Amino acid sequence: MRIAIAGATGAVGVHVVDVARRRAHDVVALSRAQGVDLLDARAVARALEGADAVIDVSSIATTSQAASMAYFEASTANLLAGGETAGVTHHIVLSIVNIDRAPSGYYAGKVLQERLVSDGLVPWSILRATQFHEFAGQIYERGRIGPVHAVPIMRTQPVAASEVAERLVELAESDARGRARDLAGPREERLIDLVRASASAAGSRAPIISIPLPGGMGAAMRSGALLPGPDAQLGTLTFTEWMRPR
Ligand SMILES: NC(=O)c1ccc[n+]([C@@H]2O[C@H](COP(=O)([O-])OP(=O)(O)OC[C@H]3O[C@@H](n4cnc5c(N)ncnc54)[C@H](OP(=O)(O)O)[C@@H]3O)[C@@H](O)[C@H]2O)c1
Repeated sequence: MRIAIAGATGAVGVHVVDVARRRAHDVVALSRAQGVDLLDARAVARALEGADAVIDVSSIATTSQAASMAYFEASTANLLAGGETAGVTHHIVLSIVNIDRAPSGYYAGKVLQERLVSDGLVPWSILRATQFHEFAGQIYERGRIGPVHAVPIMRTQPVAASEVAERLVELAESDARGRARDLAGPREERLIDLVRASASAAGSRAPIISIPLPGGMGAAMRSGALLPGPDAQLGTLTFTEWMRPR
């Protein structure tokens, strides 16, 4: 089948492209680096021509509620409208476990995205996953303040983005099912430990400090509200195994 992957160059997007190609699907990769801006409705509509399914793993790197909501509202509206015109029969979105418990900051945009998709006319599936193992590196890069790297205090049960990608492509190969079973990693970790391990493996000696993020999003990160429930499906690769040279 022809699968359009929005955010194809991102942390999970590169794995989604790999898995889809390995399973002999025809992949249309959408990102600005590949010449398609999701905020440009006409470019999105052109790119979706002939697509059977859309997997949306695009993102904006922000903790601002306004920026997150503006991005996910516009990008999702364009993908849904373009998909409807193109006859897309399945729109799949990757979201985050338990974000409705803390609809603030970045998560407010994700909650809005989930609502737009579930209220839309294209049959849909939403997979909520916990943070990726790759999240440690993203936080390290994005949390730089001068010479110091600031890491939000967070309890997390991270999962390998490659395992999330497998699940997303499996969903694309099946009928739309609404909310899919949550996907999490095999064990709970502290984000600061993951960031320190990944920075040290990359040879960095920069100071890394723990900070409480403000607002409902930060409170949920600290309290464990974003940890998976007992019904979640668990991936198998631990952070330590994932870190080992492959
Ligand atoms: N990271 C996590 O731990 C995690 C955990 C659970 C769920 N999720 C969800 O998974 C999704 C992907 O996250 P990620 O961490 O893989 O993202 P990421 O690494 O930040 O990648 C974002 C992707 O979106 C593309 N993009 C951004 N703005 C765009 C635009 N205007 N037009 C076209 N493409 C655009 C980027 O490519 P260009 O820059 O080339 O445009 C890139 O391919 C997000 O929705 C996130 O909420 C993430």
